[in-house]
Amino acid sequence: MKLKDQRVLVCGAGGFIGGHLVNYLLNQGVNVVRAVDIKPLADWHQSSPQVENLVADLGELDACRRSTRHVDIVFQLAADMGGMGFIQNNKALCMLSVLINTHMLMASRDSGVQRFFYASSACVYNAEKQKNADVVPLKEEDAYPAMPEDGYGWEKLFSERMCRHFQEDFGLECRVARFHNVYGPYGTYDGGREKAPAAICRKVIEAKASGSNQIEIWGDGSQARSFTYIDDCLWGTLAILEGESSDPINLGSSELVTINQLVDIVQNIAGVTLERTYRLDAPRGVNGRNSDNTKILAYLQWEPSIPLYAGLTRTYEWIESQMMASVRP
Ligand code: NAD
Ligand code: GDD
Repeated sequence: MKLKDQRVLVCGAGGFIGGHLVNYLLNQGVNVVRAVDIKPLADWHQSSPQVENLVADLGELDACRRSTRHVDIVFQLAADMGGMGFIQNNKALCMLSVLINTHMLMASRDSGVQRFFYASSACVYNAEKQKNADVVPLKEEDAYPAMPEDGYGWEKLFSERMCRHFQEDFGLECRVARFHNVYGPYGTYDGGREKAPAAICRKVIEAKASGSNQIEIWGDGSQARSFTYIDDCLWGTLAILEGESSDPINLGSSELVTINQLVDIVQNIAGVTLERTYRLDAPRGVNGRNSDNTKILAYLQWEPSIPLYAGLTRTYEWIESQMMASVRP
């Protein structure tokens, strides 16, 4: 299936990935008819005047019905989420995103949507497989038996399952990607929902600007992750939507680093060396997580490959420009 002749809806378009996705689709000549988010338009990370920008609570079935009217393709990215600092302390709010997914699936089925993309997460994977910083990359089947991240991960796994059954029982074609920690310009870098790449960039910029040589790291710095640059996430999202497999698939970089190595890279970009203090009681999540890309490589002959150093350089520069702009008189 090719997207070019379809009418597209992007949900969560006021957020980081959704905002990029709208622009990416428009640049590819795709007919994005509508973009929806619960936030006031002024708070959207990005917005385009070329599409109908609708402010609505997609937890409500009526709003989902209005949003899916005259639409062929749905990208469902709306969720109440964030980095470890948010998901560890807001499990009920994370789980309430089930209302968005449930109502979006029902409205899509009823309004004749042809294809439904669901943004799932690496947080669906069994915690038992992520205990060691000495990481074995996660294959798609490692989500079962189920023991995902508390709150957020359970909601994602349940909603993946709903997609499967809406396809089996109602014929709604669903595509599911498991995003692995996505970062880049226009991402959240303060306020509590930021993830490690943006948080570390912000902290290094703050230290540099204030002349401090101190930085606080959550955990002991030995936790390992892979981080996916936004451009790879966008390319993969489109390819998975257009492809014919409805099985959940990893969409993540396999370039594994410890948080200490992440800090090393950001320091290098900034040209500073800071003294680290480790907050051991801070939200930490799993010890080690990486993406096994065997499946996506076989399916698309492609995997995310933008190097962390290159992606972080662009992210650091964007966050620095935002922070400098906000202190200018
Ligand atoms: P984001 O928080 O920047 O964007 C999500 C958007 O959804 C926000 O703008 C928010 O206002 C909106 N939203 C929340 N509740 C809503 C509601 N009731 N009605 C309408 N809109 C609502 O997050 P993101 O980083 O852009 O992530 C997009 C999707 O990808 C999410 O589903 C997220 O769970 C998933 N994901 C992201 C990552 C990542 O690293 N960024 C990793 C795994 C999965
Ligand atoms: N957020 C944040 N801020 N994390 C920090 C910081 C900091 O200042 N310092 C160190 N860390 C550590 C955290 O303790 C955690 O061990 C690691 O960096 C990664 O944290 P996050 O980037 O916040 O989250 P995550 O990788 O555990 O999970 C994220 O990715 C999932 C998909 O891979 C979350 O955003 C999930 O919502 C997402 O689904």
